[in-house]
Amino acid sequence: MSGSQQPYVVLARKYRPQGFAEVLGQPAVSVTLKNALEQSKVHHAYLFTGPRGVGKTTMARILAKALNCAKGVTSAPCGECDSCREIALSGSLDVLEMDAASHTGVDNIRQVIIDTVALAPNRDRNKVFIIDEAHMLSTPAFNALLKTLEEPPPHVVFILATTESAKIPATIASRCQRFRFRPIAVEALAEHLGALAKKEGVVIEPAALHLLARSAEGSLRDAISLLDQSHSTAGGKVTEAQVREMFGFVSQEVLLGVAQAVLSRDTRGLAGWLQRIYAEGLEPAQLLRDLRAALEAVYLGRLGVEAAEPLGLESLGPEATAEALAFFLRRLNRTLEELKSTDSPRLALELGLFGCLESAFDLAAWSQRLEALERRLAGGLPPGPASAPRSAARVAAPQPSSAPAGGAPSDLWPSVVEAVRQEKISLGAVLEHARLVPSAQGPWKLFFQKNFDLDTAKHGQALIEAKLATVVGKPVTLSLELGEGAPQDSDIVDAQAPELGAAPPGAWKDVTEGAPAAAPPPGLAKAQKILGGKVKIIKKPS
Ligand SMILES: Nc1ncnc2c1ncn2[C@@H]1O[C@H](COP(=O)(O)OP(=O)(O)OP(=O)(O)O)[C@@H](O)[C@H]1O
Ligand SMILES: [Mg+2]
Ligand SMILES: [Zn+2]
Repeated sequence: MSGSQQPYVVLARKYRPQGFAEVLGQPAVSVTLKNALEQSKVHHAYLFTGPRGVGKTTMARILAKALNCAKGVTSAPCGECDSCREIALSGSLDVLEMDAASHTGVDNIRQVIIDTVALAPNRDRNKVFIIDEAHMLSTPAFNALLKTLEEPPPHVVFILATTESAKIPATIASRCQRFRFRPIAVEALAEHLGALAKKEGVVIEPAALHLLARSAEGSLRDAISLLDQSHSTAGGKVTEAQVREMFGFVSQEVLLGVAQAVLSRDTRGLAGWLQRIYAEGLEPAQLLRDLRAALEAVYLGRLGVEAAEPLGLESLGPEATAEALAFFLRRLNRTLEELKSTDSPRLALELGLFGCLESAFDLAAWSQRLEALERRLAGGLPPGPASAPRSAARVAAPQPSSAPAGGAPSDLWPSVVEAVRQEKISLGAVLEHARLVPSAQGPWKLFFQKNFDLDTAKHGQALIEAKLATVVGKPVTLSLELGEGAPQDSDIVDAQAPELGAAPPGAWKDVTEGAPAAAPPPGLAKAQKILGGKVKIIKKPS
């Protein structure tokens, strides 16, 4: 932003609202303040909270003007008297602005506030203290301020502004009248930007305006800054494509491709999209955020809530059920969290997205598949392709056919060990004595007999998972544990069924209960082998 920062400052300043009527999207705040001014019921301390760039400092200055305008206290400051003009330029002796971010200490509070607060205003009616980024004050500074707030001298008004209301001590907050500023809606942002562009003679495509408005995430300052940058970079007419290119926004095509690949469990397709994403130099975090915004719109649509604005993923297939989307969104959230603390954003992105393919968010289809299989085997038919939907077929965890190394997990483990050894000899040696226990859902387990081996493996977990994924032909999350690796309860295929709401209550009857001696249904062993899990509960349609 460095080169193009200059015009932004000018533009945002040029269009800083000078009166209540010009402030966008904060009607509750404007109306309440105007009423208080008209009825001379002005409080002695205000707390303005809300996200960045939505008008807190702007509103504080308007309030200061309203209090000190030469016209008298008014809800419509003239903007022309000395007082109004000085306040607009932050040059009034009676309106002191303090940036707490750079003046956190108690000494600053003493100098700027405590020592001067008792003195009469220089020229105007009131002394107004605007403390910006108030959450940055130190505890002693807050304490010093608290005493003044408890017994404020007459004609003194405090306005504290902050983006982090939770960091303001309750003792301070409770002595202020509090106003919550809201993020500005995308439509309002786009409209405002459009009007501003017109005034500035900037020609910009409506789609580009919307893109800018969306990525400003509710901040008007950010929106103006983005408009400014695109104008100064693009030169003539600003197009949607230019804006995408300029800010690394992910195209609709990529978003749709990735979403469709995940929802239809298309491993190969997803890998292809990832390659393209890397080739285009898109940032993992940007991709995930855009994907989340677009999927959220579809999700709300599925729930019957009209999304404010369709974001281009409406053509997703039938796999995009509300349930699947909710799962996907939660995963995206978690991956975005993980991205903050990783030194390998790509790996986090891959584990996050491929992890979605692996998880059983359509457990109902799973149960159907097992049922179908059971029926086939009972009827003496060979276990041909299941009649369940394709997506369910692909979720079946360790499918022998999908493993290039061939055969059951026990056969493919040596290949994994070898692949790891080629990159890290010591890790390979440790893995030789480990035991792999695949699971039909959730992480596969890898058991170690020695604590030391377990620790070594934990440090190389990402590498092991990557190699395992290559050998198995699909992403696998590992849980590394100490022990022998006897089958565990957590391997139960049905363990999470109730939580995921697989089948409507009453549709299935548990026939395992109290019947351990009963013979297992014919073909169950075979089904277990194919699905790779351990069936513990058997249900039949009631
Ligand atoms: N609600 C709004 N209406 C009109 N313009 C706004 C509004 N909010 C922000 N702006 C524009 O953005 C610029 C910065 O706004 P302001 O300094 O008031 O934001 P802020 O809420 O104090 O942000 P921060 O928390 O980052 O300090 C203003 O000069 C103005 O151009
Ligand atoms: Mg501010
Ligand atoms: Zn005035």
